[in-house]
Amino acid sequence: MNYRHSYHAGNFADVLKHAVLAQIITYLKRKDAAFRVIDTHAGIGLYDLSSTEAQKTGEWREGIGRINAAGLSSGLKAFLAPWLEAVEALNPQGGVLHYPGSPKLSRALLRKQDRLTAIELHPDDAKLLKTVFEGDYQTRVIELDGWLSLGAHLPPKEKRGLVLVDPPFEAEGEYDRMIDGLARATRRFPGGTYMLWHPIKADSPLAGFDKKLAALGRPNTLTVRLMIRDNTHAPGLNGTGLVILNPPFTLEAELKRVLPELAKILAQGPGAGAEVAMLVGER
Ligand SMILES: C[S@@+](CC[C@H](N)C(=O)[O-])C[C@H]1O[C@@H](n2cnc3c(N)ncnc32)[C@H](O)[C@@H]1O
Repeated sequence: MNYRHSYHAGNFADVLKHAVLAQIITYLKRKDAAFRVIDTHAGIGLYDLSSTEAQKTGEWREGIGRINAAGLSSGLKAFLAPWLEAVEALNPQGGVLHYPGSPKLSRALLRKQDRLTAIELHPDDAKLLKTVFEGDYQTRVIELDGWLSLGAHLPPKEKRGLVLVDPPFEAEGEYDRMIDGLARATRRFPGGTYMLWHPIKADSPLAGFDKKLAALGRPNTLTVRLMIRDNTHAPGLNGTGLVILNPPFTLEAELKRVLPELAKILAQGPGAGAEVAMLVGER
């Protein structure tokens, strides 16, 4: 396990993932009933963008950095608000020095009745994550293989919630592991909302992935892809993808409205744009 999210925190992929995560949680709060967020690949929770790692790649400058500098339309501003408010709360001095990873962001949005399970396999990262949530009775941090939690921790006792699957894609076969994990998880907890992240690189097996995803036949499977340039550059990310099962019913239309503008802000070359498609529709 070589991947360290500290090099990438706040980059363009985090912008899309975290903005959508915050939207989904905001939507779950429309009902009083408690829910749980299960974050299977949680990272360390809180990132210092002045760290050697973050400064070395400077990726955050082309992500959250660009968002902060851009003039946003009122529609995009409203869409990003739940995420940006959580970022701002950590940076009362202005700017962005402290960046919330997915568990910290989720936690910032929970109510008293809601819970967070944050899973991380890397022992050093799990230790840091435990420190971030020390004494927080609403959050459980577990050092574990996140793929196992898709069996062991589902369904949550609240019977409502969101499962975020955000692996590093450093191991071979991660796309297939994702399909298998999703098949297992949705058998145990079909009513849950799931958000899965995947990279878009020149050699990503996206056509095969879509085929396998469609073959699962789970109703309400939404695919979201944001490209920062055309998918020919190598190595490195040309785009970022999300698969969302059982999304809030307003999300597809909202993403179609705001993502073209977001793609323009994050563009790093010709071919930037966004694609939102319901891969398997409602039954
Ligand atoms: C992309 S990062 C997570 C970023 C985080 N979700 C966020 O948005 O802030 C992936 C994390 O998964 C961890 N990881 C790698 N393999 C894992 C596994 N099998 N189970 C759980 N965590 C794993 C890595 O150590 C890394 O911290």
